[in-house]
Amino acid sequence: MGEPAHRPADPGPGRINRTIVMVGLMGAGKTSIGRRLAQRLGLPFVDADHEIETAAGCTIEEIFERFGEAAFRDGERRIIQRLLERPAHVLATGGGAFMDAETRARIKAAGISVWLRADIDVLLRRVERRTNRPLLKRGEPRAILAKLMEQRYPVYAEADICVDSIDGPADATVDRVVMALEHHLRGGLEEKAI
Ligand code: S3P
Repeated sequence: MGEPAHRPADPGPGRINRTIVMVGLMGAGKTSIGRRLAQRLGLPFVDADHEIETAAGCTIEEIFERFGEAAFRDGERRIIQRLLERPAHVLATGGGAFMDAETRARIKAAGISVWLRADIDVLLRRVERRTNRPLLKRGEPRAILAKLMEQRYPVYAEADICVDSIDGPADATVDRVVMALEHHLRGGLEEKAI
Protein backbone atom coordinates (compact mmCIF):
# COMPACT_ATOMS: atom_id res chain seq x y z
CA MET A 1 0.00 0.00 0.00
CA GLY A 2 1.27 3.47 -0.87
CA GLU A 3 1.36 6.49 1.42
CA PRO A 4 -1.97 8.33 1.60
CA ALA A 5 -1.89 11.49 -0.52
CA HIS A 6 -2.84 13.70 2.43
CA ARG A 7 0.08 12.65 4.63
CA PRO A 8 1.65 15.85 5.98
CA ALA A 9 5.32 16.53 5.54
CA ASP A 10 7.09 15.38 8.70
CA PRO A 11 8.93 18.08 10.62
CA GLY A 12 12.02 15.85 10.32
CA PRO A 13 14.21 14.68 13.17
CA GLY A 14 16.56 17.64 12.89
CA ARG A 15 13.85 20.14 13.80
CA ILE A 16 12.61 18.48 16.96
CA ASN A 17 14.97 19.30 19.77
CA ARG A 18 12.49 19.00 22.62
CA THR A 19 10.90 15.91 24.06
CA ILE A 20 7.34 15.39 22.87
CA VAL A 21 5.24 14.40 25.85
CA MET A 22 2.04 12.46 25.26
CA VAL A 23 -0.70 13.37 27.73
CA GLY A 24 -4.26 12.06 28.16
CA LEU A 25 -6.51 9.63 29.93
CA MET A 26 -6.10 5.88 30.07
CA GLY A 27 -7.06 4.51 26.67
CA ALA A 28 -6.35 7.75 24.79
CA GLY A 29 -3.56 6.02 22.84
CA LYS A 30 -0.52 7.72 24.38
CA THR A 31 1.65 4.64 23.97
CA SER A 32 0.45 3.39 20.59
CA ILE A 33 0.31 6.84 18.96
CA GLY A 34 3.50 7.93 20.73
CA ARG A 35 5.40 4.90 19.44
CA ARG A 36 4.27 5.53 15.86
CA LEU A 37 4.98 9.24 16.17
CA ALA A 38 8.52 8.52 17.35
CA GLN A 39 9.07 6.28 14.35
CA ARG A 40 7.75 8.95 12.02
CA LEU A 41 10.01 11.62 13.52
CA GLY A 42 13.06 9.39 13.85
CA LEU A 43 13.15 9.90 17.63
CA PRO A 44 13.48 7.30 20.39
CA PHE A 45 10.27 6.29 22.17
CA VAL A 46 10.07 5.95 25.96
CA ASP A 47 7.09 4.86 28.03
CA ALA A 48 7.18 6.40 31.52
CA ASP A 49 5.00 3.68 33.08
CA HIS A 50 7.34 1.03 31.73
CA GLU A 51 10.35 2.91 33.15
CA ILE A 52 8.63 3.13 36.54
CA GLU A 53 8.01 -0.63 36.50
CA THR A 54 11.62 -1.32 35.56
CA ALA A 55 12.92 0.96 38.31
CA ALA A 56 10.59 -0.56 40.91
CA GLY A 57 11.10 -4.15 39.76
CA CYS A 58 7.33 -4.76 39.82
CA THR A 59 4.18 -3.79 37.95
CA ILE A 60 2.20 -0.59 38.51
CA GLU A 61 -0.61 -2.69 39.94
CA GLU A 62 1.82 -4.14 42.49
CA ILE A 63 3.17 -0.67 43.35
CA PHE A 64 -0.40 0.51 44.05
CA GLU A 65 -1.14 -2.62 46.10
CA ARG A 66 2.05 -2.68 48.15
CA PHE A 67 2.86 1.00 48.60
CA GLY A 68 -0.27 2.92 47.64
CA GLU A 69 -1.03 5.58 45.04
CA ALA A 70 0.95 8.37 46.75
CA ALA A 71 4.17 6.32 46.52
CA PHE A 72 3.44 5.62 42.86
CA ARG A 73 2.97 9.35 42.19
CA ASP A 74 6.30 10.17 43.90
CA GLY A 75 8.08 7.60 41.75
CA GLU A 76 6.29 8.84 38.65
CA ARG A 77 7.37 12.44 39.33
CA ARG A 78 11.01 11.42 39.85
CA ILE A 79 11.21 9.16 36.80
CA ILE A 80 9.63 11.76 34.51
CA GLN A 81 12.02 14.40 35.82
CA ARG A 82 14.94 12.15 34.88
CA LEU A 83 13.49 11.26 31.49
CA LEU A 84 13.04 14.94 30.65
CA GLU A 85 16.78 15.39 31.13
CA ARG A 86 17.48 12.92 28.31
CA PRO A 87 17.95 14.07 24.68
CA ALA A 88 14.76 14.69 22.68
CA HIS A 89 12.46 11.69 22.43
CA VAL A 90 8.75 10.90 22.41
CA LEU A 91 7.61 10.24 25.99
CA ALA A 92 4.30 8.56 26.79
CA THR A 93 3.23 9.45 30.33
CA GLY A 94 0.62 7.73 32.53
CA GLY A 95 -2.75 9.49 32.66
CA GLY A 96 -2.14 11.05 36.07
CA ALA A 97 1.34 12.43 35.46
CA PHE A 98 0.34 15.77 33.92
CA MET A 99 -1.94 16.43 36.91
CA ASP A 100 1.13 16.98 39.07
CA ALA A 101 2.00 20.70 39.05
CA GLU A 102 5.75 20.07 39.33
CA THR A 103 5.73 17.59 36.45
CA ARG A 104 3.61 19.96 34.38
CA ALA A 105 6.08 22.80 34.94
CA ARG A 106 9.01 20.57 33.98
CA ILE A 107 7.24 19.42 30.83
CA LYS A 108 6.49 23.04 29.94
CA ALA A 109 10.18 23.94 30.40
CA ALA A 110 11.70 20.98 28.60
CA GLY A 111 9.15 19.55 26.22
CA ILE A 112 6.18 19.95 23.93
CA SER A 113 3.03 18.44 25.42
CA VAL A 114 0.44 16.74 23.22
CA TRP A 115 -2.95 16.01 24.75
CA LEU A 116 -4.69 13.11 23.03
CA ARG A 117 -8.31 13.94 23.74
CA ALA A 118 -10.87 11.18 23.41
CA ASP A 119 -14.53 10.78 24.25
CA ILE A 120 -15.72 8.38 26.88
CA ASP A 121 -16.97 5.65 24.53
CA VAL A 122 -13.63 5.49 22.73
CA LEU A 123 -11.76 5.37 26.06
CA LEU A 124 -14.02 2.69 27.48
CA ARG A 125 -13.72 0.44 24.43
CA ARG A 126 -9.95 0.70 24.63
CA VAL A 127 -9.50 0.22 28.38
CA GLU A 128 -11.75 -2.82 28.34
CA ARG A 129 -9.05 -4.69 26.44
CA ARG A 130 -6.74 -4.68 29.47
CA THR A 131 -7.31 -5.27 33.17
CA ASN A 132 -4.10 -3.92 34.65
CA ARG A 133 -5.19 -0.39 35.56
CA PRO A 134 -5.68 -0.07 39.33
CA LEU A 135 -7.78 3.11 39.16
CA LEU A 136 -10.39 1.36 37.03
CA LYS A 137 -10.81 -1.42 39.58
CA ARG A 138 -12.16 0.97 42.17
CA GLY A 139 -15.68 0.88 40.76
CA GLU A 140 -17.58 1.08 37.52
CA PRO A 141 -15.13 2.04 34.71
CA ARG A 142 -17.54 4.40 32.91
CA ALA A 143 -18.26 6.36 36.08
CA ILE A 144 -14.56 6.47 36.99
CA LEU A 145 -13.55 7.69 33.55
CA ALA A 146 -16.34 10.29 33.55
CA LYS A 147 -15.11 11.64 36.89
CA LEU A 148 -11.49 11.67 35.72
CA MET A 149 -12.53 13.53 32.55
CA GLU A 150 -14.24 16.15 34.67
CA GLN A 151 -11.19 16.56 36.93
CA ARG A 152 -8.46 16.22 34.37
CA TYR A 153 -9.63 17.67 31.06
CA PRO A 154 -9.36 21.29 32.27
CA VAL A 155 -5.74 20.57 33.28
CA TYR A 156 -4.88 18.54 30.17
CA ALA A 157 -6.11 21.60 28.24
CA GLU A 158 -2.94 23.37 29.39
CA ALA A 159 -0.96 21.13 27.01
CA ASP A 160 0.72 22.87 24.08
CA ILE A 161 -1.18 20.83 21.52
CA CYS A 162 -4.53 19.04 21.54
CA VAL A 163 -5.40 16.34 19.04
CA ASP A 164 -8.58 14.29 19.03
CA SER A 165 -7.90 10.60 19.31
CA ILE A 166 -10.68 8.90 17.39
CA ASP A 167 -11.35 5.33 16.35
CA GLY A 168 -9.87 4.40 13.02
CA PRO A 169 -6.38 3.94 11.69
CA ALA A 170 -3.75 5.07 14.20
CA ASP A 171 -1.76 6.59 11.34
CA ALA A 172 -4.55 9.13 10.76
CA THR A 173 -4.17 10.35 14.35
CA VAL A 174 -0.38 10.39 13.96
CA ASP A 175 -0.85 12.51 10.81
CA ARG A 176 -2.84 15.03 12.82
CA VAL A 177 -0.27 15.11 15.61
CA VAL A 178 2.48 15.75 13.04
CA MET A 179 0.43 18.57 11.49
CA ALA A 180 -0.25 20.09 14.90
CA LEU A 181 3.44 19.86 15.78
CA GLU A 182 4.38 21.58 12.50
CA HIS A 183 1.93 24.30 13.34
CA HIS A 184 3.23 24.64 16.89
CA LEU A 185 6.83 24.81 15.72
CA ARG A 186 5.90 27.52 13.20
CA GLY A 187 4.66 29.63 16.07
CA GLY A 188 1.10 28.33 16.36
CA LEU A 189 -0.71 31.60 15.90
CA GLU A 190 -3.98 29.96 14.98
CA GLU A 191 -6.17 27.80 17.20
CA LYS A 192 -4.60 25.05 19.34
CA ALA A 193 -6.90 22.14 18.49
CA ILE A 194 -6.56 20.31 15.17
C1 S3P B 1 -3.01 6.23 35.65
C2 S3P B 1 -2.80 5.81 34.36
C3 S3P B 1 -1.96 4.64 34.01
C4 S3P B 1 -0.92 4.39 35.10
C5 S3P B 1 -1.59 4.28 36.43
C6 S3P B 1 -2.38 5.54 36.82
C7 S3P B 1 -3.86 7.41 35.89
O1 S3P B 1 -1.30 4.88 32.77
O2 S3P B 1 0.05 5.40 35.13
O3 S3P B 1 -2.43 3.16 36.39
O4 S3P B 1 -3.80 8.00 36.97
O5 S3P B 1 -4.60 7.82 34.96
P1 S3P B 1 -2.06 4.91 31.32
O6 S3P B 1 -2.68 6.26 31.18
O7 S3P B 1 -0.95 4.70 30.37
O8 S3P B 1 -3.05 3.80 31.34
